Amino acid sequence: MTAASASSVPGPVAPGAAPAPDKVTDIVARQYSAWVYPQPVQDMQAAIADGYFEFAAPHLFGPLLWPEGRSLAGLRVLIAGCGSNQAAYNALSMPEAQVTAIDISMNSLQHSQFLKEKHGLHNLTLRHMGLLQVPRLGQQLDYIVCTGVLHHLPSPDAGLQALRAVLAPDGMMNLMLYGQSLRLGVYLMQEVFRRLGCGQTPEDVALVRATLACLPDDHVLRRYLAVADDLRYDAGIVDTFLHPQDRAYTVPQVLAFARENGLGFWGWTDAKDYDARAVLGLQHPALARIQALPPEERWATLELLAQTRGTHRFLLCHPRRLALRPRFDTPGWLAYVPVRHPFLKILQPGSIQQDRPAQLKRDWHEFSLNRNGTALLDAVDGRRSVRHVLRQAQKALPDLGLEHARVFFQLMHDWGHVLYETPGKTPG
Ligand SMILES: C[S@@+](CC[C@H](N)C(=O)[O-])C[C@H]1O[C@@H](n2cnc3c(N)ncnc32)[C@H](O)[C@@H]1O
Repeated sequence: MTAASASSVPGPVAPGAAPAPDKVTDIVARQYSAWVYPQPVQDMQAAIADGYFEFAAPHLFGPLLWPEGRSLAGLRVLIAGCGSNQAAYNALSMPEAQVTAIDISMNSLQHSQFLKEKHGLHNLTLRHMGLLQVPRLGQQLDYIVCTGVLHHLPSPDAGLQALRAVLAPDGMMNLMLYGQSLRLGVYLMQEVFRRLGCGQTPEDVALVRATLACLPDDHVLRRYLAVADDLRYDAGIVDTFLHPQDRAYTVPQVLAFARENGLGFWGWTDAKDYDARAVLGLQHPALARIQALPPEERWATLELLAQTRGTHRFLLCHPRRLALRPRFDTPGWLAYVPVRHPFLKILQPGSIQQDRPAQLKRDWHEFSLNRNGTALLDAVDGRRSVRHVLRQAQKALPDLGLEHARVFFQLMHDWGHVLYETPGKTPG
């Protein structure tokens, strides 16, 4: 879909500071006005009912962002580079929050305005504004979403610093940058289309599609094509293969990006994607050596070995907030309240009497739980503390000990299958 359908929806968009006058930003703005991204959702309520969600959305995954607890009432949200759908999604799913969304693409904003009117989103303010200008909002923000945007800036560091300047002391940032390992083939093909003199015309898009259709079977791009879900629509083809400005990051580059811009790395949005035990399986011959490395080295090694990351989704905050992350090597963990990840599915319940393991699945990760894990997870109800979960589980398995519970809850944390509320606890 081109921008034509989105731009046909007129509406008042509050003027912000004009987008920065640099040339790259102008070119990027023109692209996203001509090729609105992502595919515009026409009815956000219906889309949500149909399963549309965003990673780390506070109303679904609150403890992931604020384990110490946080009301969404009055939450000040900034969607930086909102594209077509993100503004409405956040405003609709958090009616008690105040959402400001900015973009340099007028047509993306106009589609957002269309959704705002359709769903009566009085808590949403839309602004035509470049990301570097966010300090001019004169606002502190509690939750900043910036996914798929910073890697299109001439200086992603300047962009992150602008966001940091408006992040409230207890605020959280939900970011996505391109991942290098799975996009290697994308950059080969971008170079091909540059050499062929492609711009972003419908003919160029058709040429990309035709070229992809007869790509050699063993081309390095194949792996990316197998998982990319935005190539069905033309704006996705332009965004992927005909973009004039994008760069991708390795794990060490993501970590350096946070550190060098004065932010703390809270964690990956979905921890299992970076855990070698989940990705490679427990029998992998290199697993013991990988697990012996410091976490940053484990993630970097896994990225090279598994080549699964086309994007990196992660959470950043001011460094002093890092002390609030749940941890399992100090006594505080017994007071945490474990909450199952909302998308964790039990494929087959386990039976302690029959010693039958439980089979579970979340997203791509399927795993089984032994008797101990089954008894513990059965007792997780989102209200009991770990201490009470353990007592409950011990009714079925009297030999279940503290260390069993610690190892289990640490693993569920490392895989992101269980989230933790730490009310009144300073995890450190
Ligand atoms: C790939 S889309 C991602 C949209 C949305 N964040 C999402 O994840 O669905 C990138 C968006 O960022 C916007 N953008 C790019 N550079 C920007 C800048 N310097 N300031 C504000 N928005 C920008 C584009 O116009 C486009 O709408």
